[in-house]
Amino acid sequence: MTMHIPEETVDEIRQSNDIVDVVGEYVALKKQGKNFFGLCPFHGEKTPSFSVTQDKQIFHCFGCGKGGNVFTFLMEIEGFSFYQAVQHLADKKGFSLSESLGSQQEQGVSNEEQMNLKAFEWLTKLYHHLLRHTKEGKQAYQYLLERGFSDEIIHTFQLGYSPQSKDLITQFLEKKGYHSQHMVNAGVLTTNDHNQTTDRFRGRVIFPIRNHLGKSVGFGGRTITDQEPKYLNSPESILFQKGKLLFNFDLARSSIRKSGQAILFEGYMDVIAAYQAGIMNGLATLGTSITEAQARLLNRYADTIIVCYDGDEAGINASYKAARLLHHIGSNVKVSAIPEGLDPDSYIAKYGSDRFKHEIIEASYTYISFLMEYFKKDYNLKLEGDRIQYIEKVIDELALINRPMEREYYAKELASEYELSMDTIVYEINNRRKKLGNHQDKQRTTSHTKSKLSFKKQNKLLPAFHNAEKQLLTYMLHDFYIAEKVKESLGASFNIDMHKIIVTHLYAFYEEGHEANISQFIERIDDDKIKNFIIELAMENVHADISDKEIQDYIRIIKAEHGDKAIIRGLQEEQKNAEIQQDFVRAAQIGMEILEIQKKIKNANH
Ligand code: CTP
Ligand code: MN
Repeated sequence: MTMHIPEETVDEIRQSNDIVDVVGEYVALKKQGKNFFGLCPFHGEKTPSFSVTQDKQIFHCFGCGKGGNVFTFLMEIEGFSFYQAVQHLADKKGFSLSESLGSQQEQGVSNEEQMNLKAFEWLTKLYHHLLRHTKEGKQAYQYLLERGFSDEIIHTFQLGYSPQSKDLITQFLEKKGYHSQHMVNAGVLTTNDHNQTTDRFRGRVIFPIRNHLGKSVGFGGRTITDQEPKYLNSPESILFQKGKLLFNFDLARSSIRKSGQAILFEGYMDVIAAYQAGIMNGLATLGTSITEAQARLLNRYADTIIVCYDGDEAGINASYKAARLLHHIGSNVKVSAIPEGLDPDSYIAKYGSDRFKHEIIEASYTYISFLMEYFKKDYNLKLEGDRIQYIEKVIDELALINRPMEREYYAKELASEYELSMDTIVYEINNRRKKLGNHQDKQRTTSHTKSKLSFKKQNKLLPAFHNAEKQLLTYMLHDFYIAEKVKESLGASFNIDMHKIIVTHLYAFYEEGHEANISQFIERIDDDKIKNFIIELAMENVHADISDKEIQDYIRIIKAEHGDKAIIRGLQEEQKNAEIQQDFVRAAQIGMEILEIQKKIKNANH
């Protein structure tokens, strides 16, 4: 179904949402010259080849070729329809699209999920209300206050309580039109031994778990009476995928982007306690170890990820696993050291937020120094044999570091701690690096540089007229007057079909009174191949002050191609006739002439 939103509204919404801000919520962007660069969210990569151009309001990935404007970006990354993308940005800026449009059902989410989302929304409100304003919720509310949570933070996280009652929640849902069996399937209700449906979270404090758009998609329920298990989570479903979601991602996102840092905690309580302490870039997995999908998601947003797990053995082992995975996918990882027996939440309660910030977060170990500490647990460093094995293990890791300065830094640390000469350590490191081969370095020649090179190379290999068309098109996209000039002398007679299609659209666009605006122009192009091609052209540098002569030169080259082509076509026709008349000498002569012209074209193009 296509919905019509007035073009002016779409324009207004596009203009009020800078693509750098919108993309910046998903990708950590760094300014480099006129463009912003980051890791492409659409394909895995370790070196940034994804670029956003602010003055053109477009993005383009040199690695995978994806590109578009602010709407296209949201459509790709969120799976939105065009309408949803517009709606999303409108909401953000407080625009209201007209009622009739606003009430349209969201696309891309099935009816059932739509219904469940609504149920989770109702329940979040109900649980929160029960906690804050009812007799039944008093004990749970008291529990949270005793744990140091303020009313404000309880509100922000919409913490709630599900009373012991057998049928309160069931009846509430039924009144709202939700069938009990449906809610059992959605994982909200469970069936007890007596075949009655009751709320799964009875007697528990509720932590709503929101997806990246801030919508509740499940709950974590903590006992306040030492019931087992301590936490009960919603079961896995399409909306609630533990391996993909991160607790508090939606709220943490902007703070992660600003600081370039994300802090990964183990528990909901830790995230909330840190948030209350003013550390808003914290997230947590949902009771499982971090998955590759979650690691990649974090890596896309944050330059540095600080793993801040509990200070017990399990926490340290989990830190090692998480840090390894994050390092492996290319993140800059740090690891905090929480004193034994505490977790971030209890540390903050005991020592306050300032000490937590300075002595835990800011004092986090770098990845390598964490490993150097962590490996010690397997060895008795008082024994010479163990000590050597330990040093070997550390050197193995040092050899994997690509930055020479960083390598030297840790080599020095190792040398001084174990009274070895730097020469020996450097020798050992270099030995290992040689064995690893140039392997590593080769891998580092990323799609980024590769694709940029091949793009340039391609240009060289193209015939002159083809390049001329591309250049001219690029200028036409940027400048209405150049487009006018070309229209007068060439019309749509470009030789390459793709170019023909684009200029035709472009003339129409300008005729409607639009000014040059690539981001707006590509909206009318349905074909992704053409759209990406336009973006690629638009990314090429143009000289602001191209001379009229240059433009005329391009036009001449393009016309000459028609000219020669037309002559060849004519000759081929003649040749065919000669053959029909069995005048083979004449046919051969014409054949020679065609070859001559083709040779001339070929030479002119090189
Ligand atoms: N968890 C879980 N199921 C359990 C125990 C824990 O899903 N039976 C998950 C929860 O997401 C919890 C996280 O693991 O937040 C960390 O567990 P833990 O450290 O035991 O809990 P805390 O978050 O520290 O909670 P509290 O301070 O209330 O003990
Ligand atoms: Mn805890």
